[in-house]
Amino acid sequence: MPGNEDLFTPIHKAIRSMIYDVGRRMQTNDFADPAASAPLLADLEHEFGSALSAGCLLCILHHHGIDEEKGVFAHAGAGAPQMIQRLMDEHRSLSTQLARITQHARELQGRTDRAQRILAGIALNQEVNEFFASYLVHMNYEERELVPWMKNAFTDDQMRAMRGAIMGGMPPERLAAILRWMLPSLNLEEASEMLGGLKRGAPAPVFEMVRGIAAAQIEPGRWAVVQERAGLTAPPPAS
Ligand SMILES: [Fe+2]
Ligand SMILES: [Fe+2]
Repeated sequence: MPGNEDLFTPIHKAIRSMIYDVGRRMQTNDFADPAASAPLLADLEHEFGSALSAGCLLCILHHHGIDEEKGVFAHAGAGAPQMIQRLMDEHRSLSTQLARITQHARELQGRTDRAQRILAGIALNQEVNEFFASYLVHMNYEERELVPWMKNAFTDDQMRAMRGAIMGGMPPERLAAILRWMLPSLNLEEASEMLGGLKRGAPAPVFEMVRGIAAAQIEPGRWAVVQERAGLTAPPPAS
């Protein structure tokens, strides 16, 4: 029976929110000011060799590609070789772009001349925009082509097992960082389904961890609706 699970859209919504946020910060940042630029440039740093890189935003984007290759493409490759090869090629190209951005962010951080910093900031902004544009197209392709293909090729139980393996293999701090971006990025229906599904099916500590992040990150009016739809609100006391 065809499945209905979607392993891509929720994490992609988190990544799109990260991309929009970094894009906004990039185009408004005063690159002449080293102190003001340091946190933004740190978010562009990617330690390819480090397993503990949950802190930087572009590291999350890079790890997302690795998770897809190990956790999904390895299962789908035999059935859809051309599509998976295209996506793997795009991952290689995105990694190359990312390495260049990291290098240029470090070079900018090391500059002391004001005029040079401003020029390097303009160039870096353009480079990051190109990377984000490629990344957005790549995610759309995965959602438009791979998600429907997977719904025909795998059952929901098989796809849930893939998602469980990916999440189970993540360092907890990276999972928490992704959830902080993901939960407020979902629409009300998606957030309600996620919270309701976890309440019914996940171990209590996992559900409580996600509920805590949702309560802190989702705007209060929207969070009230999610709690209502997901059945998380306590019934009124009997009078
Ligand atoms: Fe991908
Ligand atoms: Fe993706």
